[in-house]
Amino acid sequence: MIRHHRRRLGNWTPDNWQLNLTAFENGRAVGRQSLWARDFRTLREVSTASWIGRADQGRGLGTEMRAAVLALAFDGLGAGDAVSGAFQDNPASHRVSTKLGYVADGVERRLVRGRPTLMRRMRLTADRRPATTPHPTTITGLIPCLPLFGLRPSPPAAGPPTRRGGPARGVRRP
Ligand SMILES: CC(C)(COP(=O)(O)OP(=O)(O)OC[C@H]1O[C@@H](n2cnc3c(N)ncnc32)[C@H](O)[C@@H]1OP(=O)(O)O)[C@@H](O)C(=O)NCCC(=O)NCCS
Repeated sequence: MIRHHRRRLGNWTPDNWQLNLTAFENGRAVGRQSLWARDFRTLREVSTASWIGRADQGRGLGTEMRAAVLALAFDGLGAGDAVSGAFQDNPASHRVSTKLGYVADGVERRLVRGRPTLMRRMRLTADRRPATTPHPTTITGLIPCLPLFGLRPSPPAAGPPTRRGGPARGVRRP
């Protein structure tokens, strides 16, 4: 895992980046939330993956973590789409996605330890984001970082015009 984090930091470019975040509760690390994209400046699509320590699963932290990173993607970076995927036997992940407004986006076949497995893709578009959120998020310190994401250091333009949702909810724009 450490090698993965170091590799992704070392390989970071504005056209191919992965932000690997750690979630803390009262100072204790409880999970990881990743956000990544290729050619984000043009495509405005991000992917996410998350992991919560087993003892802390089922307490709402996974939903809170994903909602926070979606706020960064849509409200901070001006994303138009967020995609996620989980194997079909992962109801917790699908539930988190559904709660946050994602819809089914097809399936993929993957090999897991040599066995074929079905991955269900989910997609959230900016215009499908719920109007209110129980997870208000504050974004700070983003503007100097925008070039790292392939963006100009000014408040982000709206995503693709047909996909853009409403104004930020509970989010202080950078
Ligand atoms: C997926 C994961 C990040 C979700 O985090 P979490 O903190 O457990 O999620 P939350 O508590 O916020 O929400 C889980 C939801 O799934 C539901 N759920 C959990 N197990 C379920 C099951 N077997 N059947 C149906 N629903 C289930 C919960 O009831 C909850 O929904 P609710 O709020 O409507 O009651 C976490 O479970 C995890 O790290 N799993 C292992 C790694 C993984 O699979 N990551 C995702 C793939 S990238």
